[in-house]
Amino acid sequence: MSVPRLVPPRTPIVLVVDDVRANRELLEGHLVELGYDVRQARDGYEALDAVAAEEPDLVLLDIDMPKLDGIAVCERLKAHPVRRLIPIVILTASSDRETRLRGIAAGADDFLSKPFDAKELLIRTKVLLNQRALNRRLDATEGVLFALARAVEARDRYTIHHAERVGRYAQAMGEAFGLHSEDNDLLYEGGVLHDLGKIAIADAILLKPGPLNEQEFARMREHSAEGERICLSLRSVADYLPIIRHHHERVDGTGYPDHLGGSAIPLGARIVAIADAWDAMVSDRPYRAGLGCDEARRRLDSGSGKQWDAAIVEIFAGLLDAGLQDRVTDRQLAARA
Ligand SMILES: [Fe+2]
Ligand SMILES: [Fe+2]
Repeated sequence: MSVPRLVPPRTPIVLVVDDVRANRELLEGHLVELGYDVRQARDGYEALDAVAAEEPDLVLLDIDMPKLDGIAVCERLKAHPVRRLIPIVILTASSDRETRLRGIAAGADDFLSKPFDAKELLIRTKVLLNQRALNRRLDATEGVLFALARAVEARDRYTIHHAERVGRYAQAMGEAFGLHSEDNDLLYEGGVLHDLGKIAIADAILLKPGPLNEQEFARMREHSAEGERICLSLRSVADYLPIIRHHHERVDGTGYPDHLGGSAIPLGARIVAIADAWDAMVSDRPYRAGLGCDEARRRLDSGSGKQWDAAIVEIFAGLLDAGLQDRVTDRQLAARA
């Protein structure tokens, strides 16, 4: 008796890209036999269109093609934030070392030698499709967290888009600081997720239209540890944990939750703390209007070296002088339009 399934299993889609029809047909024959759904493209542009129309689970890519060659297709797909996760196998003659090196540089995941060996094709596609399935799940976990972070904002019209702006400010500071581009992405994502723990804070406190009393404030302060707790078991977001937990620490050691001081506060958290505080100062809140930029700058300066890392405040001030705030808010308006 077959076991009932909640979701019917998907047949993986494999895109075969080759300008030689006989090659495409040959591969399609093997792949259909292996139980895959096959799409074909005759050149690089057709391949990009096919990926945009329906994301495949695997791409088998010839190199020498008219118009746009395989290396260019590979580079474009690997530069895309989502499509880079689609595994790409380059089809090449086994002796062609030069092509293999170019393929590796373009981000190809594997190579398949011509003439094709059915067994080799089976093994390589299986391994890559398993990887693909794992990546999809990982992606889904992250997606849920980002959706939660946005759900937190949606509860409160005063903080709408706050997390997005904090992410953008933090990313810009990372760039100006000269961090690696992957760290800058991490700052953006950590910025978006920093207040995730507010999901555990009751509306009566989160949305209170006046200053919080001591007890309420103590509960509110728990949001950074709550955020960490929510993400703790998720390996894919482990890198954001220091930002989430420590974004309310102060360099003079009087912040929370761990009263860390100076460089004991993780760098990502020191950066996000400034982005967060700035956006909170200049935004309206239920119990007060946002500060003007001049007053917010005065407060930023007076907190430099006490609440915030002085060197990073200096970087941020330079970015504000160069128009960062307008760029961040304009981008948001454009994204909403
Ligand atoms: Fe916070
Ligand atoms: Fe915040």
